Amino acid sequence: MCRFCFHRPTVPMLSKPHIWLFFVVAVKAVSVNGVWPMPQKMSSFVERYPISPQAFTFQYTPGSVAQSGCSVLDSAFKRYFKLIFPDELRQPGVHFGPLAKPFTVQVGVSEGNCDGYPSESSKESYRLSVSSGVATVRAEMVWGALRGLESLSQLVYQDDYGVHYINKTEIEDFPRFPFRGLLLDTSRHYLPLYAIMETLDAMSYTKLNVFHWHIVDDPSFPYQSKLFPDLSNKGAFHPMTHVYTQSDVRRVIEHSRLRGIRVVPEFDSPGHTQSWGRGQPDLLTPCYRGDVPSGTYGPVNPILRSSYVFMAKLLKEVASVFPDSYLHLGGDEVDFTCWKSNPDVRSFMKTMGFGTDFSKLESLYVEYMVNISASLNRTSIVWQDVFDYHEKIPKDTVLEIWKGLPPAYAQEMSRMTQAGYRVLLSAPWYINHIRYGQDWRDSYTVKPLNFSGTETQKRLVIGGEVCMWGEYVDATNLSPRLWPRACAAAERLWSDENQTSSTDEAFPRITNFRCRLLRRGIRAEPLDVGHCQREFQGF
Ligand SMILES: *[C@@H]1O[C@H](CO)[C@@H](O)[C@H](O)[C@H]1NC(C)=O
Ligand SMILES: *[C@@H]1O[C@H](CO)[C@@H](O)[C@H](O)[C@H]1NC(C)=O
Ligand SMILES: *[C@@H]1O[C@H](CO)[C@@H](O)[C@H](O)[C@H]1NC(C)=O
Ligand SMILES: *[C@@H]1O[C@H](CO)[C@@H](O)[C@H](O)[C@H]1NC(C)=O
Ligand SMILES: *[C@@H]1O[C@H](CO)[C@@H](O)[C@H](O)[C@H]1NC(C)=O
Repeated sequence: MCRFCFHRPTVPMLSKPHIWLFFVVAVKAVSVNGVWPMPQKMSSFVERYPISPQAFTFQYTPGSVAQSGCSVLDSAFKRYFKLIFPDELRQPGVHFGPLAKPFTVQVGVSEGNCDGYPSESSKESYRLSVSSGVATVRAEMVWGALRGLESLSQLVYQDDYGVHYINKTEIEDFPRFPFRGLLLDTSRHYLPLYAIMETLDAMSYTKLNVFHWHIVDDPSFPYQSKLFPDLSNKGAFHPMTHVYTQSDVRRVIEHSRLRGIRVVPEFDSPGHTQSWGRGQPDLLTPCYRGDVPSGTYGPVNPILRSSYVFMAKLLKEVASVFPDSYLHLGGDEVDFTCWKSNPDVRSFMKTMGFGTDFSKLESLYVEYMVNISASLNRTSIVWQDVFDYHEKIPKDTVLEIWKGLPPAYAQEMSRMTQAGYRVLLSAPWYINHIRYGQDWRDSYTVKPLNFSGTETQKRLVIGGEVCMWGEYVDATNLSPRLWPRACAAAERLWSDENQTSSTDEAFPRITNFRCRLLRRGIRAEPLDVGHCQREFQGF
């Protein structure tokens, strides 16, 4: 897909009757130049500077540890030039208004390197200062510099003649939570690579920093394994066209890295594995009807050594492909019906002394998985079910909450953090659910730390995730369903809650940000009646 291949003129084409209105409106420049998510500290001034693409450059500050050749920032400079001057690509050489004075963006980083991956310890804080002819972005790490460049790009606005301006501004910014995720589900519908890349782009615009890739599930297994090619050969919707090859995965990881986004893969088991069974015989539990196998299969067979040998090999490969130190093991919604029906499972239960408590069997399975993950030097994330039914979970496991409304999930957070676990909140942000009206407000008013607990407990909340489950979502409606709705959670997870508690105050800002997304080629749906300075241009 070629997002920047425009042929249509993008300057407003005004028919005669509108001309007078145009001049009246144009006296006042459009200047809702907010930053989304709202920075922790920001002062804007009425002094403004016209800028133009001919006289706009990025530079590294002399003392910066990152200098020319820094992969992350060199490519960010190219990207942000295009984001700041979107018309440059459509109508090169056509400019409006007075010629601007030279403007330089100076970027300095004090530690770390440019070739690594973002991680849980990435520092994303930055300072941004805009004054006449110069903007400086100062950050500890390149990841913070990326966030600063994003804020800078959002300060730029155009008047009705197309002249770009930036106001004098001071920003000091850092994220409230280190883990600000977005889940895509590529099993229920296959999402082509371009749809994933576009999502990653938009994530970086709203400072989300973890792509949780729910890559496989019951309906299909699109991950093309090196060791077990039959998993996708037989388990994908199509073995050639509906798979993610090793090189696809590497491209997603690199695209993410350059935007300061981590990629956390999820290989959910023992439930949610129907598609795995097609390419890996004997992995799933045969279900019985009475004394005979019914021909259907249940969760991964937890009583066979071969299941664990297979999982260990697969996860070892996964750990070699995905560099992130976190690995999501799923563990949700395990249906015990099939295990209960199987006589071998029942006799195993007896041998183990589990009685009829099948959650003990599930617990054993998950313990094996978490141990495999630990042996691969990975921190495990599991869905809340694992905590709800089991006691023996290593303390460094991260628990993700997906069930219930407040106060149910608040009570869960209280219990989990009291038990000393780190927690991710996603229950209020299942934005694949849609309802009529401005449902972003529901996401926005979430208070992730509104549960009973000590300060120590609150510190165990490492962030949250927006989830976009794929039953009714594919590349046709992914972007409009995600954006700008996911922006609400993005601000909740980045910004100071006290400064961003009012949805009414947020409304003009998110509306403006949605227009900016359109300008960047993201098909973000409207929030309410209204218009954008430039409407979506199509492809
Ligand atoms: C930017 O400057 C313009 C022109 O001086 C002013 O009208 C506008 O309010 C300023 N914007 C902000 C966010 O301060
Ligand atoms: C384990 O992971 C941590 C954090 O990602 C890393 O610092 C460390 O070097 C890794 N250890 C080994 C043996 O790979
Ligand atoms: C998991 O690892 C722990 C700690 O090494 C060990 O005590 C436990 O037996 C292991 N569990 C399984 C199911 O292998
Ligand atoms: C905060 O928690 C209390 C107690 O559960 C609840 O009554 C209140 O509605 C919550 N507030 C928000 C904004 O979620
Ligand atoms: C937000 O307000 C609450 C209640 O007034 C206060 O306890 C808290 O410290 C404030 N948080 C910040 C980050 O200022």
